[in-house]
Amino acid sequence: MIVNQQIERWLTAQTAFSESAERPFVTLSYAQSWDGSITTRAGETLGLSGSESRRLTHQLRSLHDGILVGIGTVLTDDPQLTVRECSGKSPQPIVLDSWLRTPPTARLCQRTDKECWLLTCLKPDGEFDGNAEIITLEGDDDGRVDLSAALQRLWEKGIRTLMVEGGSQVITAFLKAQLADALVLTIAPTLVGGYKGVGNLDLGCKSQLPQIRPLHSQMLGPDLIMWGNLHYREAAAA
Ligand SMILES: NC(=O)c1ccc[n+]([C@@H]2O[C@H](COP(=O)([O-])OP(=O)(O)OC[C@H]3O[C@@H](n4cnc5c(N)ncnc54)[C@H](OP(=O)(O)O)[C@@H]3O)[C@@H](O)[C@H]2O)c1
Repeated sequence: MIVNQQIERWLTAQTAFSESAERPFVTLSYAQSWDGSITTRAGETLGLSGSESRRLTHQLRSLHDGILVGIGTVLTDDPQLTVRECSGKSPQPIVLDSWLRTPPTARLCQRTDKECWLLTCLKPDGEFDGNAEIITLEGDDDGRVDLSAALQRLWEKGIRTLMVEGGSQVITAFLKAQLADALVLTIAPTLVGGYKGVGNLDLGCKSQLPQIRPLHSQMLGPDLIMWGNLHYREAAAA
């Protein structure tokens, strides 16, 4: 079976999860080099995926209700987050943007098919001049959008499956909060020595490192695709 169909079957089999957890099932999906870099440096764009992997990414998007990125990715890549390279519906676009830095001119806020959801900690005092719904949520200890609160609100708004495409700070935050359930990783055959996809997870001991199992892998064009479920161990009681 080709990798796209395998991943589709595997993802579809996860759906029972969200009914009991009352939050969306969260899939992290991004492309990295062999040394774990997602780009040369934060704030720079680097296309890493081959054409087959890009198609897979679009297919994955079509299998999720929502797609989320951080404001860093919006300001750098100005993505559309639509499904273009295969058939299927585009997921709901969502941005983590604590201080409402998304420009109304961002392509996500110029889409005519869907209103972008901006998850923020601010209560806007004026009109936002783009096609977006501003959703104000509580902040975490760092003053950023609280991820648990965000997922709960997304669940209430009907999002059952959420694809998180990056960038690094957002991927790291989901892993630290133990709120990512699955990972689909594209590994491009290059070395970048740049900005890593996963930052400091700040874990107390090695036994708390997230584990991926069962682990699946397959070549897709020049890229290696790896996918699996994420498992976490609770911090030992003090
Ligand atoms: N290779 C790939 O697959 C891939 C995919 C995506 C992006 N990228 C690259 O990654 C880079 C962007 O990554 P990045 O790490 O700089 O930015 P990012 O992860 O896209 O966005 C980070 C920002 O999100 C906001 N945020 C709100 N709530 C948050 C929370 N709870 N936890 C973490 N962040 C939260 C913060 O800004 P506020 O405090 O203002 O809210 C934070 O600075 C770009 O260079 C882009 O090209 C690569």
